[in-house]
Amino acid sequence: MVPVLTVLFFCLLQNTLVFGLNSFHKILLPSIGSESYAFDSENGRIYTGLNDGRIVKFQDPKIGFVDFATTVSNRPKKLCDGTKGDLKICGKPIGLEFNQKTKELYIIDAYLGLLVVGKEGGVATQLSRGSHFDYADAFDIDTATGVIYFTDVGDIFSKNRNFTDIVYRANDRGGKLLKYDPKTKKIEVLLKGLAMPVGLAISKDGAFVLISEYLTSKITRFWVKGPKANTSETFVELPGHPDNIRRASSGDFWVAVNILKLQPTLTAFPLGQKISAKGQILQTVNFYGEYNATSITEVQEHLGTLYVASLNTDFVGVYKGLRF
Ligand SMILES: *[C@@H]1O[C@H](CO)[C@@H](O)[C@H](O)[C@H]1NC(C)=O
Ligand SMILES: *[C@@H]1O[C@H](CO)[C@@H](O)[C@H](O)[C@H]1NC(C)=O
Ligand SMILES: *[C@@H]1O[C@H](CO)[C@@H](O)[C@H](O)[C@H]1NC(C)=O
Repeated sequence: MVPVLTVLFFCLLQNTLVFGLNSFHKILLPSIGSESYAFDSENGRIYTGLNDGRIVKFQDPKIGFVDFATTVSNRPKKLCDGTKGDLKICGKPIGLEFNQKTKELYIIDAYLGLLVVGKEGGVATQLSRGSHFDYADAFDIDTATGVIYFTDVGDIFSKNRNFTDIVYRANDRGGKLLKYDPKTKKIEVLLKGLAMPVGLAISKDGAFVLISEYLTSKITRFWVKGPKANTSETFVELPGHPDNIRRASSGDFWVAVNILKLQPTLTAFPLGQKISAKGQILQTVNFYGEYNATSITEVQEHLGTLYVASLNTDFVGVYKGLRF
């Protein structure tokens, strides 16, 4: 396995050199780790949820990030700020996205599910209560209808604390695709049996939803509309484990992909792959030069720039001037 990975890795590295890496810079975060980004449409400010539970927004280059919102009320700052996360009392906001129509920021918290907060920030409002999921992870908003699709990875993290074990025993199928309808405020299960579904994006035309299945290194498509409505199929198979999927304005998708080597120590080769709405891999960008062996969680294209997120770095990675 290792020689194959090494060869593949160097092929990808060659590819990266073509794109040139001098364009990389970092925006420092207040503490380590953030999984996903959102940009407001008014002034293009970047927002993110930190591992320690804070939701922060980038104010300006002088001030940097400032506190914006939380998913829990009475979050004890002293206890939470700067921690590695996973404390329920601090909140666990792992996905963010603006509804570009209402200008509200939608948030997914692993334990609380979907929440929403207005422009002024503060404590976010939970959209639906009840135990519909074990560990909510990724979501996307259909702006035409306001319907939100999201994933539940199941109880895999509570059963296995050791990440290497999770990947080795790649047989967990406890994940689900769910739908939240803002009109009825009800949650419905659309698809079961998913292998750690940690990424999700809706197609530009709203016809289908893509879900990354981390353990099986593939992306599954669920049809929302048309003759195949309510059915699913494999959309694309990837060279490594896919995390978040984000749609670009072109209608293509960027997927954060980590090729993992588990022994002797967990090592990641972090990539971004751009995939067309037809399931073709259009481009692969290698982030190893800046991220070394650090796993990444998201690659997002915003106004011609790529933003790369990781749970293990204290910065937002910014790649400008890449040709895509
Ligand atoms: C995780 O489990 C693997 C295999 O069981 C073991 O080799 C490794 O040392 C464990 N890692 C940690 C951090 O406990
Ligand atoms: C898809 O399922 C929903 C219920 O989840 C149902 O209302 C709808 O009619 C179904 N559509 C098709 C084409 O089967
Ligand atoms: C990767 O390694 C370089 C050189 O040692 C170091 O400067 C950089 O901070 C590392 N990057 C990460 C994300 O750890």
